[in-house]
Amino acid sequence: MLIRRESARDAEAVEAVTAAAFARPGAPGPPAEARLVRELRADPAWLPPLSLVAVTAGDEVIGHVLCTRGHVGAVPVLGLGPLSVRPDWQRRGVGSALVHAILGAADALDEPLVALLGDPGYYGRFGFRLSQEYQIAPPQPEWRAHFQVRPLASYRPGIRGTFGYAEPFDRM
Ligand SMILES: CC(C)(COP(=O)(O)OP(=O)(O)OC[C@H]1O[C@@H](n2cnc3c(N)ncnc32)[C@H](O)[C@@H]1OP(=O)(O)O)[C@@H](O)C(=O)NCCC(=O)NCCS
Repeated sequence: MLIRRESARDAEAVEAVTAAAFARPGAPGPPAEARLVRELRADPAWLPPLSLVAVTAGDEVIGHVLCTRGHVGAVPVLGLGPLSVRPDWQRRGVGSALVHAILGAADALDEPLVALLGDPGYYGRFGFRLSQEYQIAPPQPEWRAHFQVRPLASYRPGIRGTFGYAEPFDRM
C-alpha cells in the first residue's frame, strides 16, 4: 500500500470507496458522505494537496482522506473528513496511515489545527483531543462529546471560538 495525493483520474474511485465505506444495510441510495466528497471537490474550500489516497501496488484506490478549509472564528484551520477505507481493506492499518500522512502534510503546510467529528476511541491515538480542551466549540453544541482537534506546530492558544466547516457540510 502507498499513500499519495489524489490525481484527476481518481475522483470516481474515491467516490466509490467512500460509498462502500459508509454503506448502511437497507439504506436507500448512496450514502450522503459520497455526495459530500463530490460537493467538496467543487467548493472553494477544497485543498488539492490535502486529498490523499491509499493505493495498492496496482494503483487501485482502497482508501481516501481529505482536509478542507474551515475556520475557528476568523482563523483559517482545517476540517478532516470523510475518512474512508474500503471494507475489504479495513483493520489493516490503511486508515491509520492515511491519518498520519494527512496530519504530516497539514503540518508541513503550516496549518495550525485540524478538527473533526469522530470517535475519540479511534482518533485519540493520533493526538486528537476533545475541542473543548482548547476552548474551541463544535459547530453544533450536541457534538461536544465527539468533536476533536489536533493542534500542529503553528498552533497558538489564541485560536479560540466556534469551528465552522466548509459550506457543503451544512447540507449533510
Ligand atoms: C474508521 C476507518 C477509516 C478505520 O480504517 P482502518 O483502515 O480500518 O483502520 P486501521 O486498520 O488503521 O485501525 C484499525 C483500528 O481502528 C479501530 N477502529 C476502527 N473504527 C473505529 C471506531 N469507529 N471507533 C474506535 N475504533 C475504531 C479498530 O478497532 C482497530 O483498532 P485496533 O488496531 O486496536 O484493533 C474505517 O473503518 C472506515 O472506513 N469506516 C467506515 C467509515 C468511517 O466510519 N469513517 C470515519 C468517520 S469519522
